[in-house]
Amino acid sequence: MNQPTDEKLERICEQALAMCLSTSDNQVGSSIQVKLDSQSKVRGLWVFIKSPSPLVPSEELYRQIYAILYYCLLPAYTLSSSQMIIRTFPGDDFSLTRGFWFMLHPGIPTRLVGTVDQIMADVEGMNIPLEKNLTINTSKVAHIFIAGNTGSGKTYAVLTLIRFLLFMNSKREYCPLRRVSIIDPKKSTIARTFKTSKDVELLLPQAGERAEDFILRVNTKLQQVLDDISNIQDKLYEQSPDPDCDYRILGKDAVENFLVIDELESITAGVKRTLVNEFQSLLTKIALTGREAGWHLLLSSQVASVGNGVTGATLSSSARAQMTLRIQLGRLDRSNIVQLFPELRDGGIPLPLGGKGSGIVSINDGEMDHFGVSPILMPTILNLEGD
Ligand SMILES: Nc1ncnc2c1ncn2[C@@H]1O[C@H](COP(=O)(O)OP(=O)(O)O)[C@@H](O)[C@H]1O
Ligand SMILES: [Mg+2]
Repeated sequence: MNQPTDEKLERICEQALAMCLSTSDNQVGSSIQVKLDSQSKVRGLWVFIKSPSPLVPSEELYRQIYAILYYCLLPAYTLSSSQMIIRTFPGDDFSLTRGFWFMLHPGIPTRLVGTVDQIMADVEGMNIPLEKNLTINTSKVAHIFIAGNTGSGKTYAVLTLIRFLLFMNSKREYCPLRRVSIIDPKKSTIARTFKTSKDVELLLPQAGERAEDFILRVNTKLQQVLDDISNIQDKLYEQSPDPDCDYRILGKDAVENFLVIDELESITAGVKRTLVNEFQSLLTKIALTGREAGWHLLLSSQVASVGNGVTGATLSSSARAQMTLRIQLGRLDRSNIVQLFPELRDGGIPLPLGGKGSGIVSINDGEMDHFGVSPILMPTILNLEGD
């Protein structure tokens, strides 16, 4: 395929915008100018609306431009969706000193396919890969939440992430040790997979144990996690002069912990409301206080509904706000999307790409190039035992 140059793409975008946004009364003409910034670390695109122009630089216009350009730029670039961003642009021409800004990524999302060793070969430090050219640093991501219908690939994604996390334990001396605690009332694939792993602690129902009794033990475990968080906070307070420090200052004693619950509903379904409330309140506390102490939640759920004390809610709204890596897999419908991606409430949903383990992702880790919501294709792991 002959890919157009960036200059050519800019002209194509300008023409498309002028044609789509002009009406018989208002000709947009050359008042729109597009500039791709594909060189700097944070890649993006400016759309300048030069005065005089009949266009109102509103949120609605931003979304319209997003839709037009998303289509125009594929497969050379993929735009991320977000709320309106206006960014200044350096230069002498006053009409080009500010414009709409859209994040973009080169090419189209590409799934990682390989053995864990192959996929992790080039990954450094505390990073874990999600997709080709997309890694996240776990110290910057507070908690992970994966939503999706049955069969959309939640369990597979959780398993994959645990494998990546634990891979580092055998390889890297300069990383904190990672430990994973898995709560699995269904004793499912995840529990079976890590049955003998020394870095994994499993909390499973005993034979014949009722859901009401199991959740009591789960709540006890969550309380222990909170106690551990509180101990680490004490140590940080005592040992570090740096107000911004986290558990990593503990040096060789530093442990990065992941508390994994695949399908939150499996713990709360059919259990008395008071016990569910306690479970949710403990989970919220961990979500709010865990990151600095190195405690991360890795949760999945069929629905991403939130609320305080509302029947069926899986996560309190304050806990949800701490889920800084959010993935929605499978079929996307507006009602579940707005729960997890409030920034998409007015539309502007990137195309779901179909197939197992595909959906959309939002990463809020302070990295500019992760801004916005993008399509995602979760990795496929080859050569697993039993495959
Ligand atoms: N990223 C992926 N690559 C390959 N196969 C996948 C991927 N994600 C899911 N699958 C397959 O899709 C099926 C359903 O996935 P699963 O994780 O069990 O869904 P869920 O937990 O959401 O019900 C499984 O057979 C799984 O192996
Ligand atoms: Mg599952």
